[in-house]
Amino acid sequence: MAVAHLGHAEIRVTDFEATRWFYTEVVGLYVSEEDDERVYLRAWQDWDHHTLILKKSDHPGIEHVGWRVEKAEDLRAHERRLKELGIDYHWIEGGTEHGQGDGLRFITPGGMPFELYWEREPYAAPEGSTLASELPSHPQKFAAKGIAPRRFDHVNFLTDDPGKEQEWLTGELGIHHRYYVESESGDRLASWLSRTSISHEIAVQRNRNQSGALLHHTAYYLDSPDQLVRAATILADNGAEIEWGPGNHGTSGALFLYCFDPSGNRLEVWTGGFLIFAPDWEAIRWRQAKAERAYEFWGSPMPEEYLTYGTASHFTDAPQSSVSTPG
Ligand SMILES: [Fe+2]
Repeated sequence: MAVAHLGHAEIRVTDFEATRWFYTEVVGLYVSEEDDERVYLRAWQDWDHHTLILKKSDHPGIEHVGWRVEKAEDLRAHERRLKELGIDYHWIEGGTEHGQGDGLRFITPGGMPFELYWEREPYAAPEGSTLASELPSHPQKFAAKGIAPRRFDHVNFLTDDPGKEQEWLTGELGIHHRYYVESESGDRLASWLSRTSISHEIAVQRNRNQSGALLHHTAYYLDSPDQLVRAATILADNGAEIEWGPGNHGTSGALFLYCFDPSGNRLEVWTGGFLIFAPDWEAIRWRQAKAERAYEFWGSPMPEEYLTYGTASHFTDAPQSSVSTPG
């Protein structure tokens, strides 16, 4: 059964204050809510309560990736399917994660911590507040703070067998396969997938160290190349480490920039790239011989750690076995 779209990510951060400052003042996300353990963030045109949660932790990594389902009843159907597949899962009661209803959490066969949810709180800046927009089509005013991305875009994981993981994501969650890179001997090196029309909402890349799943990065979308160049200046001016870019992904045609947050999680900001409307889209194959151009079309070399460095991927609060929702 298909999910509807990627909704948000919860990442773990070690230096809470510095990382909160980075995402709010340098990246330019807005705080919807916060408590001692978490801060809930969104970009200025993200429609929901949050698209990124920072969770205090003793190590960086990913806590969960949230996918919205197409209707409320789908959550039960997904639960039945997980049972059939023998995949452990547990429920997070509505409201535990602020701005969200019940969440069905499980780990994919390749090790990615997923959550399916239906209810969520839409965001609207309080009337009369400095962020309230005149435009009903803007959940808040465009206030041009920091890099100021428009919206949350995608997540990317390192995993031991991206081919198998892609087949599972496509077969079980209906997330379409959009493009991929394979070795000369036909081994899958990376796959990019989306349920919506954007080129990808999730990517899985082969972990060269074969050490299981790791969060590679989360990504926010900018409106234009000049905003990306401006982002590079803002990052450098604020002491952030830029890993790679600005560059040009040959696969999607999107311009990109990778950096690290103060806790060591990788963040991408990007712009452009194609959209997909065909219901019978066939995944585009890139052979290894052209893989360098797939990752960076202009020719700047891929940093050594790009295919090996990621931050931890597993739940801290998952029970050991499947638990059904009470009631
Ligand atoms: Fe969530």
